[in-house]
Amino acid sequence: MMSAYLMRSGLNPSRQFSAAASTFFKCSKATLQKSAASTSFSKNSQASVSLSRFPGLRTITTGNNTGIVGQRAEPASNPEGIVSACFQRISLLGDEWMLEARWKDGFRSKYPYIWLRDNCQCPSCFCPSSASRRVLLRDLDPSIVPVSFTTSEDSGDLEILWSDGHRGLYMSDWLRERSFSEDTRERRRLIRSPPRTLWGSDILSDLPVANFHDVLREDEALLELIQKLEALGLVIVQDTPLQQEAIFTLTNRLGYIKQTHYGVTFVVKSRVSPNNLAYTADSLDMHSDIPYFEYKPGIQLLHCISQAKGTGGSNNLVDSFNVARQLQELDLEKFQILTTVPVDFIDHGVEEDGLNFYALAKHPLIRLDKNGEVQAVTLNQMVRDSFFPVSVEKVRPWYEAMVTYYRMLLHPNNVISYKMKEGYILVFDNQRVLHGREGYLVTEGTRELHGCYWDWDMVRSCRRVLQRKLGILKT
Ligand SMILES: [Fe+2]
Ligand SMILES: [Zn+2]
Repeated sequence: MMSAYLMRSGLNPSRQFSAAASTFFKCSKATLQKSAASTSFSKNSQASVSLSRFPGLRTITTGNNTGIVGQRAEPASNPEGIVSACFQRISLLGDEWMLEARWKDGFRSKYPYIWLRDNCQCPSCFCPSSASRRVLLRDLDPSIVPVSFTTSEDSGDLEILWSDGHRGLYMSDWLRERSFSEDTRERRRLIRSPPRTLWGSDILSDLPVANFHDVLREDEALLELIQKLEALGLVIVQDTPLQQEAIFTLTNRLGYIKQTHYGVTFVVKSRVSPNNLAYTADSLDMHSDIPYFEYKPGIQLLHCISQAKGTGGSNNLVDSFNVARQLQELDLEKFQILTTVPVDFIDHGVEEDGLNFYALAKHPLIRLDKNGEVQAVTLNQMVRDSFFPVSVEKVRPWYEAMVTYYRMLLHPNNVISYKMKEGYILVFDNQRVLHGREGYLVTEGTRELHGCYWDWDMVRSCRRVLQRKLGILKT
């Protein structure tokens, strides 16, 4: 059955199939010439490309009939090589399998042929309403080459006639935004995730805060909350109503909750028969939540409905990434042990609603990304499994490294003790900010926190939506 794509492109499907099969993964010059020669678009047909879809486009052919490879395209009628209002020159670099665009302001970038074909922006290849590529992977030929190209005098749009017979369309601005430069990569990196600001206990004098009502009302306030959370891993939302619905109201501004076996939300309050030590009045070691999930929640919210009246009940918080950097400088061997030795975390039991759970996941205590930057810290003394999935001689050195790191986490220069007031929501990065609790006496009043989790994907998505809405992000 003829595919829609092939019908659109007007090619004989059997020939297209054999061409694709014979050239796939064979990007030699000889293969390219064979592939180009086998299409029905010879040199003689290049000048007769219909431009009716794109008014203002004019054709520039690319040389002799074997000259796609290694030929530079220049319009014969234009000795200065100026081909549009935007572009100064467009050249085909056949030996490199790339097109080079030079803009009038001097900016230049190369674009591989296969990338251009894959990213054609014409309505047949790209669906704007779903922002998705329609080109099927099975139809992609890495040996594809341009036969000719045209540019618009007004807009600078570029049209390329490809050796598969398709006419590809590319906007000048769109191409420029996607240059393969270091700058573009850096811009995209910042859009994915902005840089962090590491902190120590001096943050206590200037804690990042947000106002609940401002965040609900103003996009700028919500964006600021997210940006603080991304940079510092911590925000305190103040002036929140003391109803359980408040964290739903706040969540609805961004997206949705990440549910776990502890429910959509959970209540941190001392219970008679707790299935989690959080549900006692005891002190809790510094920890990350839900370490027994492969994808542990990215962010935790704790909404203070009522606070213990005595001296206990404070939260301890520490920037574990900052302390990981300190350990790296102080003792590289211990740092390397914690970044490589896997640790199992486990949680099994029964929730109040009868749900049985048995969660198990493996993490290094400090996870690095491919650039050696700390990506996540997973520490939880309470639910670290007694099965340790390493050879026996690695056990004691790991404990030495872990205890050294833990003591550094608790250093007064690193940890803060913060007692939430009623009506505060503590929002923190569960990959980065470890939290603990000072024990409290139940005779000194009820301490009740309502919590839930968010994921970073959802929060960062919301940030980009806001940045686009406020005109900060253009792409
Ligand atoms: Fe916790
Ligand atoms: Zn297309």
